[in-house]
Formats: sequence, structure tokens, C-alpha cells
Amino acid sequence: MTKQDKAVLITGASSGIGRATALGLDAAGYQVFAGVRKVEDGLALKAEASDALAPLLLDVTDGDAVAGAAARVGEETEGNLFGLVNNAGLSLNGPLEIIPDSEIRRLFEVNVLGLLAVTRPFIPLLRKAQGRLVNVSSGHGLLAVPDKSVYAASKFAVQAISDSLRLELRPFGVSVSNLVVGKVDTAVLEKILDERERVAKAADPAVLELYSPLFEFFDREVKDLPGIPPEEVAKVVAEALTTPKPKAQYLVGPGARKMRNLSRLPRRLREGLMYKALYGARRP
Ligand SMILES: NC(=O)c1ccc[n+]([C@@H]2O[C@H](COP(=O)([O-])OP(=O)(O)OC[C@H]3O[C@@H](n4cnc5c(N)ncnc54)[C@H](OP(=O)(O)O)[C@@H]3O)[C@@H](O)[C@H]2O)c1
Repeated sequence: MTKQDKAVLITGASSGIGRATALGLDAAGYQVFAGVRKVEDGLALKAEASDALAPLLLDVTDGDAVAGAAARVGEETEGNLFGLVNNAGLSLNGPLEIIPDSEIRRLFEVNVLGLLAVTRPFIPLLRKAQGRLVNVSSGHGLLAVPDKSVYAASKFAVQAISDSLRLELRPFGVSVSNLVVGKVDTAVLEKILDERERVAKAADPAVLELYSPLFEFFDREVKDLPGIPPEEVAKVVAEALTTPKPKAQYLVGPGARKMRNLSRLPRRLREGLMYKALYGARRP
């Protein structure tokens, strides 16, 4: 199979990592299906890509859209999909006490249920092409920290799905890679701060005050820590799709390796270090 014959679908290609990946793979000669939720995002992508790039209206929480996408990709590729990159995702930060149920459900609908719902109908196409599944997770899929109980739970779920499917699909020659992503300079960072502000405004100020060390710590992390451009992550996705032996796990971006290493420490030591970093010398 040449690259031109190799079709790849990327979800969440309107911005950030998904967009950089779609454009990068298009430039490398793949037949790219770029999942977007708005027609104008598809047009904007096409304006920067070759004629071969095909935007696909794909909200991962919309069952009809998922079924339609699988049917169209199946028709246009004779049932062969070489790569599925599950990238679409939301972030949700903040202490659980102040996060509304509706936000938690929305996050799980996209990050977990949407990923499963998209993957399932594409498995026959990946099997036919002996293709590759690449799931975009996070350092928080290995290390759960305060302030991120909901987001970390969703990315631990992505890790679990990757691990489970890796063996489930191996007999068919389909590989599964999990990307453990650190900080990347995308729209998500602004979204985190906006959403934090929104959730904080709706919270009881006295409760909010209890969590001020967490807010200060993680706001600093979002604002001050350097991230990498999304194109760097796109290169790693391309590697997972092209290397003869794709890895089960790729670490990419600042913080990813540190979080992986911390996750391997004995729990008491790890939690002691994290507590000190968050709260200084204060005792509980
Ligand atoms: N940036 C980081 O520091 C970082 C770190 C670790 C992991 N990640 C992960 O990387 C992935 C991409 O994030 P990003 O940083 O590139 O953020 P981003 O620029 O905000 O991109 C998120 C993408 O997901 C799409 N999306 C949201 N809800 C969707 C839905 N219901 N159906 C389909 N697409 C949907 C968005 O589409 P719309 O434009 O239509 O909303 C957008 O294309 C996510 O899974 C995220 O968790 C990012």
C-alpha cells in the first residue's frame, strides 16, 4: 500500500493537535478524512490542504454522524482504513465539589463514550487494512492529580481502552498506540481558563476559598509552563502510523515523562511529593 492509498481519519481536526495532524498527514501524502463539527472548519482546513483532504462532519457524541462517517469512509476507501486517530477531547478542571453534573457528563460523552462509539464501526475497516489505532491521551491518564478528578478519570479510561483493544485487535494485525501528551500550546489552554472562571463564578465563594491553593497552583501551570506546538505532537502521530513497529505508548510534550515517572513511584512517596508541591509545608 502506498501512502496515497492509505486513508486516515482524525477526529477533532478543527484546531490544535487534530488540525496539525490532519494537515501534516495530508502534506505527507495520506488520504485524510478530517473530522470537524462545523462546515466552516472543514473549509478552513481545505484552504490549507491538498485537494485530497476530505472534511467529515463528525460530532463524536452524535450516533447518526458516526454511522454516516463510517459509511462514507467505507465507500470511499473500499472498506480499508489504515489509521484512526481518536483525538477529539475536552478538558475539565477544578475541585469536584464545584463541578456540575452536566459538565462531568459532557466530558465523558466526548472523551470516553464518543471515542468508543467512533472506534467500533471503524474496526472492520482497520482490520481489512491491517491498520493502526492511535488514541490521544494525556499525562493525566497515568497520573491523577487533585483538581483533575474528572479529566484524569476520562484519560485513564482512554488508557484502559487502548490497553484492552491492543490485545483484542492484535490477532487481526491492527496495532493500538496511546499518546501520553504533556502541555501543548493549543486553544485548550484558553478554554481551561475560561471554563475555570465560569465554574468558579457559579460556586459558593466560601467553598471556592477552601480550594484557593489548587486554583493558584494549576492556573500558574496553565499560564506559565511552556508548552510545545501541536505540530510536534502531529509528528509523533505520524511516527505511530509509519514506523514498522508502532509503540504501545508514546510520551510527548513537557510534563509527560515526569508524570509517567511520578506514576511509577510508591503511592506514599508520590502523594507526599505532590502534597508538598501543592500546599508547601502545610499539614492537612
Ligand atoms: N493541549 C494540551 O496541553 C493537551 C494535553 C494533553 C492531552 N490533550 C488532548 O489532545 C486532544 C486535542 O486537544 P487540543 O489540545 O488540540 O485542544 P483543542 O484545540 O481544543 O481541540 C479539541 C478538538 O476536539 C474537538 N471536539 C470537541 N468536542 C467534540 C465532539 N463532541 N465531537 C467531535 N470533536 C469534538 C474540537 O472541535 P470544535 O472546534 O468543534 O469544538 C477540537 O477540534 C484532546 O483529546 C486533549 O485531551 C491536550
